[in-house]
Parts: sequence; structure tokens; C-alpha cells
Amino acid sequence: MVMFKVSRKATSPIDGQKPGTSGLRKKVTVFKQPNYLHNFVQSTFNALTLEKVKGATLVVSGDGRYFSKDAIQIIIKMAAANGVRRVWVGQNGLLSTPAVSAVIRERVGADGSKASGSFILTASHNPGGPHEDFGIKYNMENGGPAPEGITDRIYDNTKTIKEYFIAEDLPDVDISIIGVTNFSGHEGQFDVDVFDSTNDYVKLMKSIFDFESIQNLLASPKFSFCYDALHGVAGIYAKRIFIQELGARESSLLNCTPKEDFGGGHPDPNLTYAKELVARMGLGKANSQEEPPEFGAAADGDADRNMVLGKRFFVTPSDSVAIIAANAVQAIPYFTSGLKGVARSMPTSAALDVVATNLKLKFFEVPTGWKFFGNLMDAGLCSVCGEESFGTGSDHIREKDGIWAVLAWLSILALKNKDNLNGGKLVTVEDIVRQHWATYGRHYYTRYDYENVDAGAAKELMTYLVKLQSSLPDVNKIIKGIRSDVSTVVQADEFEYKDPVDGSISKHQGIRYLFEDGSRLVFRLSGTGSEGATIRVYIEQYENDSSKIGKDSQEALAPLVEVALKLSKMQEFTGRSAPTVIT
Ligand code: G1P
Ligand code: ZN
Repeated sequence: MVMFKVSRKATSPIDGQKPGTSGLRKKVTVFKQPNYLHNFVQSTFNALTLEKVKGATLVVSGDGRYFSKDAIQIIIKMAAANGVRRVWVGQNGLLSTPAVSAVIRERVGADGSKASGSFILTASHNPGGPHEDFGIKYNMENGGPAPEGITDRIYDNTKTIKEYFIAEDLPDVDISIIGVTNFSGHEGQFDVDVFDSTNDYVKLMKSIFDFESIQNLLASPKFSFCYDALHGVAGIYAKRIFIQELGARESSLLNCTPKEDFGGGHPDPNLTYAKELVARMGLGKANSQEEPPEFGAAADGDADRNMVLGKRFFVTPSDSVAIIAANAVQAIPYFTSGLKGVARSMPTSAALDVVATNLKLKFFEVPTGWKFFGNLMDAGLCSVCGEESFGTGSDHIREKDGIWAVLAWLSILALKNKDNLNGGKLVTVEDIVRQHWATYGRHYYTRYDYENVDAGAAKELMTYLVKLQSSLPDVNKIIKGIRSDVSTVVQADEFEYKDPVDGSISKHQGIRYLFEDGSRLVFRLSGTGSEGATIRVYIEQYENDSSKIGKDSQEALAPLVEVALKLSKMQEFTGRSAPTVIT
């Protein structure tokens, strides 16, 4: 057994290591600075209780982006030096974010060990490569992101750190080969266990969904399927689940080989960045002659996000979670005994609220970021939840789950078509969505993103909007001056959330303007960017007159969009005449 020594290294604080909505994300060039990663990792160890470090089992893996392999070796050496007993690494350092959550919750080592936490190496949907982003976040024993109390402590530690511990002489472990390597340090044995990245996750999916009914759907000549992993880690799960387990054709997969730079693309599953899929589904401008598939989906870099498409049809993520919730009990065996409750993030449309009211389900509105759903799930209050930002999931893990969402949709399609796979007309994705609108009404919805704007200007815009809220008559005067045909604002505030489980309060979670007819304008600053600021504007309008639910959403929302941009003086503050991304 190779012996190692522990070195204590002097270091000093580095500015700007505050974890955002989902961990610390910066340019690779920043992470490569001497001690940058080391300081953050040591600050995390110091923020955890002793039993989560000494003798503990730690998962370390991620979406495989550039710098991951170097980072994994550094973290292994620091884990050994800090007294961690064993590190579990997905083969080639690959584990999707939902798979990490599943591994923490479900995997049991040969000696009965269970993981107490994980470093996830990802910057999610941000591009990768030597000049792009890297990221690291810590997940807890329940499989979910560290709560604010811990991330605040990590940040405080980064501001005072003086030393870190590392086993410099520990040789690099070959993470491409499955197997356990043992080392010996002065505190005892230390193991690195490289394991199959897909097994635990696939096993969990098989326990949730009826794979046989999905197989039948995929085998039907009437049905066709396309999945785009955008060169992220989802590719390895897509190959295993959709091809090997469910029998889809190889040609159904696009960009399913993970790449360190995501093939130079932006691994974000939306209509702007999932270009190939969008074209194949007949939604692009240059439609090919070929008949598009019936169902298409994409994932982001770490496979927690999903976009669902029908033939020439886009399903908004807000509608997607509502439709999954409305059909879950009938379509998905895991939910047969009923839903405990449902939840959405504040800026997500109220489509889910209407389902909750109709089905008499517990309902929660939480701030942006998946961590807020975790407490509800741990307390048994929530089964299905989602965010407008292409995040959908359930209490099977404590992260959103891109592949799960696709399996949920395939299950719904399988259910709706169970009697007509050989006979009648296929019930399509579009049919399911339109039927849902006819039953529950439609929430027209769009989001405008202004990326990488000057941070000072973004802050001024937000301050201006908050100040404006002090007088509703003034707000309404301005709005009616912009468009007389929009409804009246009846409430304006900054969203604040009191966690019903632990009573913690999260303030300043976005500025809301709520209209009498159920429309909403929401403004918030992104917490995941790595440069400048990103302003997000969320625009929503409810329509339950069945003769008015078939409009183009940008057309239907045009008056409210105009109000949002003029009310916030977007162009004056930011100098931008148009958003960088519209979803
Ligand atoms: C964005 C999304 C948010 C999601 C997060 C992590 O955060 O808006 O819903 O939870 O990414 O995927 P933001 O950049 O808005 O802070
Ligand atoms: Zn992600």
C-alpha cells in the first residue's frame, strides 16, 4: 500500500469566493490561480462538522468539463490529508448532478459505507474550455446542495483562511479504470473507489418508471424520438437508458459524447442554444424536408436541466412541471399512492398552482434555486417541483433531473397512447399540452435575459424598481401611460420566503409586480453568472378563455413586455436595446 504524508501549506484569502445560486463558478483561468481551488476546498472542509470529514466517504465528480481532471486529483489529495476515509469517483470523473444526488442517497460501498457529501465539479449550463467556466459546489448527506448556512460559512472561511492540508506525495489515481486503490496515511487507510457512473442512477430510474411501457412506445413505428446532450455528461446516461435499456435507435441521439469544451457550444437546453435539436424538431427557421420526430429533448452540461419539445412544438418548462404533476399518479408507478405536494420557484409561471388547486394538493412557492425544494422534500411535503429555467424533478433525489423529466414525459405519452400504438392516431406532445390548457387555462410566459451587463448599472436598475414600489398609484400611472390596455398592478414587493420547515428567512429574492388579472412581471439578478451581472425579466399572463389560448406567446405578451422594459428603464440603465436570450 502506498504511504502518504500530510503537508500543511500556508495560504491567504482570495477575494470573490462567495458561492452563488449553485456553487462557485468562475473562469478556468481564475480557478487555475495558485491556491484558488485549494482555498475553497479547505474552506468547505472547515465549514463541515467533523464527522462529515474525518473518516467520511466523499463523492467527487462532475460534468467532465475542462479542468475537472486536475481538480479531482487535487481534491483527492486534500481529502486524504484532511482525514477523509474514502473518495468515490465516477469513471473518468463523470457523474451528472442528479446522479451524484442518487449516489449519495442510494450507493452502498462493498464494506457498507455511505457517502456523507460530495464536491460536484460543474458550471452547469455555462460553456467549458480553457477560457470558459469551471465550477464547484458541495452537496450534503441528503443529496441536495448545501444550505445557505453552510455556504455562508464556507465564504466566511475563504476570507480568513491561513493554511490548507494536502497529501502532495499521493500519486495521481487513474480515474479511467474502475476499481479501488488503497493508500496509507498517518491517520490510517485512505481509498479511492472509481465506479461505474451510470449504474446507481439507472437502477433508481428503473424503480420509478415503468420501463416496459416506455419500451413499447419507443418500439412503435408511429413514435420517433430525439435526444440532444449538447456534449454534456447526459450523453452517457442517454446511451445507457434510451438505447440499451429502452431500445431507441442510435440515430435518436445527438451530441451524446461528453466533451471538455462541449464541442465549443453553450450546453444550455433552450431554443437559442440547442440549435441542432431545434432544427431537427422542425422549429428552426431553415426547416429540413425530413419529417421531425414526435418527441425531442435536451439536457445541459451536468444533465440536471431539460427542454421538452414536440414536433414543431415547444413546451415551456412551467407548463412541463404542471403537466407532469397533473398526470404523475396515473403515468408513473413511483407516484401511484398520490403526490405529497408540489412546488415551484417564484418566477416560474402559475400553471402548477392551478393544477394544485384543482387536485387539492399542497403547494409551495419558493425562491430561485433547487436547494429550497430540499427542505420540503425532506419533510415529506413535496413530490414534484420545477423551475421556469428548464429544471424539473421530484423527491427521488434532491436535485433537478434532466433525464427523469424525459422519462416522465415518455411515461405520459406511453399512457395516453397505450391503446393506439397499433391502431388509432398518436396522441402527440402538442395534443397533451393543448388539452392541458383547455382544462386548466394557459399561462403565456416568456423570460428576457440581459447577460453580462455592467454590475453597477444592474444594481441601479433594481434599486430604482424597488423604490418605485412604494406608491402603487404612481406605478399604475406610469404603466397606463405606457399601455392603457394592460391590467392594474395590485401588489408590488420584493419576494421574501420563510421556510415552512426550518423557519429560515430569505430576503431580496426578486422584485414582483402583480396585476389584477393574474399577470406578473418579475425582475431579478442572476446568481450563477461568472462575469458582470445578468438581469432576468419574467413576463406572464393567464388566460382561461378557451377561445384565446391558441395565440403565439410573444404576440400575446407584447403589451406586457413593453411595459416591463419601459417601466424598468432597461435601455437607459443598461444601454441594451434587446435581450441576449429570450426563452
Ligand atoms: C439559474 C436559474 C435557476 C436555477 C439556477 C441553477 O439561476 O434561473 O432557476 O436554479 O440557474 O441551475 P440564476 O442565474 O437565475 O440565479
Ligand atoms: Zn445544470
